[in-house]
Amino acid sequence: MYYPDSVIDEVRSRNDIVSVIGQYVALKRAGSGYQGLCPFHSEKTPSFHVTPSRQIYKCFGCQKGGNVFTFVMEYENVSFPEALRILADRVGYELPKQEESSYGAELRTKKERMLALYKEAAEYYYRKLRSDAGKYGKEYLTERKLTAETMRQFGLGYSDGKLYAELKGRYDDTFLRESGLFTFRENGGAGDKFFNRVMFPIFDNSGKVIAFGGRVMGDAKPKYLNSPESLIFNKSRNLYHLNQARRTRRGYLILCEGYMDVISLTQAGFDNAVATLGTALTEQQAQILARYTKDIVLTYDSDGAGQTAINRAIPILYQAGIRARVVDMSPYKDPDEFIKNLGAEEYEKRIREARSSYRFEMEYLKSQFGDITSTDNTDGAKAFHDAAARWMIRYEDELERETYMKAFCKDYGVSYQAFVKRVNQLGAEESGRRAAEAARAEQEAARSAEVLDGDGEVYETPNGRNTKRDDILNTQDYLVTILGNLPRARRVIRKYLTVDDFTGSVYQEVVRRCYALPDNEPVDVATLVSRFETAAEQRLAADMLSDEMAIRTGDVSKAVEDAVMKIHKRRTEDRIAKAKEENDVKEASRLIRESRKETETLRMRLRAEVY
Ligand code: UTP
Ligand code: MN
Repeated sequence: MYYPDSVIDEVRSRNDIVSVIGQYVALKRAGSGYQGLCPFHSEKTPSFHVTPSRQIYKCFGCQKGGNVFTFVMEYENVSFPEALRILADRVGYELPKQEESSYGAELRTKKERMLALYKEAAEYYYRKLRSDAGKYGKEYLTERKLTAETMRQFGLGYSDGKLYAELKGRYDDTFLRESGLFTFRENGGAGDKFFNRVMFPIFDNSGKVIAFGGRVMGDAKPKYLNSPESLIFNKSRNLYHLNQARRTRRGYLILCEGYMDVISLTQAGFDNAVATLGTALTEQQAQILARYTKDIVLTYDSDGAGQTAINRAIPILYQAGIRARVVDMSPYKDPDEFIKNLGAEEYEKRIREARSSYRFEMEYLKSQFGDITSTDNTDGAKAFHDAAARWMIRYEDELERETYMKAFCKDYGVSYQAFVKRVNQLGAEESGRRAAEAARAEQEAARSAEVLDGDGEVYETPNGRNTKRDDILNTQDYLVTILGNLPRARRVIRKYLTVDDFTGSVYQEVVRRCYALPDNEPVDVATLVSRFETAAEQRLAADMLSDEMAIRTGDVSKAVEDAVMKIHKRRTEDRIAKAKEENDVKEASRLIRESRKETETLRMRLRAEVY
């Protein structure tokens, strides 16, 4: 939706950043601002600062920062217009009915088209599984003991490799390529990415298909193919089956490793199973889970990899306020196998007997130090006790800590007095370290406030981040997002900025490729990104091209004008600085004089552009 700046400003000014963030994060006064534990990454010492006088926040741990809108966008995982609505509702402000900006509309339409494409693909796969073509797929799933009802409930399908043929002509190739469901060969041929696999659609919380996992029907590798992240899919912010499981009345959720685990648990009557999407549990996922329950039962594979993954997941869940319990499935590997052999009732029993994360982590820790009961391994035993003592420090609540210390000493035959002494000693070292860290963060906050105060010019970039430090990068991000998504504006930007006006090799390469496209041809983000060699470069390119934050309502031509002006200004400043450095006073003053004139002409010319 398009809202005039006055509306946006009104909503912002009515939502004081301290009271908004205070709803989510426990904030303490610190100097002229507030600090607390960052909600965007795991930490024990607060490095998250809120500055009321500027209405901004900044985390010196993970570098996330912004204003009240970006906070809500980031925390609630919503777009700008949604954040605006949430904040307007919060203060009872009625948003005017407004037309959408053409840019917002363009992007929204694209998202909607993408969702429609995925829906159509899901229906196609679904149909195929129930046709002759999907005979083996159906046999495979039946052999794995899934009922027809379960297959229906999870929308399972089969890919016969003919989806491209079905869709081409109705969608343009650039769009199909961007969907990630197809592969395009250099010679121009194209075909399905998923071929001869049983298909598991992945739904978002509103029940829309946003991705697929496809499993081979045998032992071939890779076992699963997943559709890539796209305009509509972010694998670290979604969980398999959460849209259904969150409706459970059991009061807890079961977190699994795989699609099949979730499906067999559901079929066995556990309607509360979810899984990550082919990656380790992320902080965002933990935060999403915490909205529904603080009680999670982990049921990862019994093998070494599964146990290591549990050990990683527990602290991430803990940071999000979740107490994890761990199911012991021995002698079986996963819930699927367990239930097939021992049935749902026995599984229910294992859930009731699930070990607390304390017990799990202690056993896991112990296993790292060999046989600690052996007299040859006193070093190992000592190291284990130290590691356990260090673990205890995470509990700042005295009672809680005491409970664990007592349990530990009883469980492992350790003298309580000696252990408490060790915990306190390590605790003191740790708080010394934390205090130093906090002081550093405080210092940095003060320094950054100085930078912001500097010449008093806090330029608010179109994507809402408003620290001055990465201002130019923000501006570049914005322009690149525009280049990638709005062909009409590309023509104008190309006219006024050369590739060299951008700094950074990845930026330059992305810009070069965008400029090389004929007018009006949309950028194929997936292909462009894949041109970069390293994962880091690819991520950077993808980020800058699909920066949701940049998709702001408001006047695109004004924002582009400002951004172009800004980069021009920076370039001129650089030239002047260089001349000064070389003591070329004449050149420097010439540049200063010229730049004034240039700036004015440039702004006029930009204003006259129609796009
Ligand atoms: P598993 O190998 O445990 O698969 O991987 P599974 O879900 O239990 O399936 P079955 O029972 O063997 O058929 C766990 C999860 O890891 C991801 C998938 O999300 C899978 O569900 N994975 C696994 C991949 O993405 N790719 C792979 O090649 C393997
Ligand atoms: Mn498995």
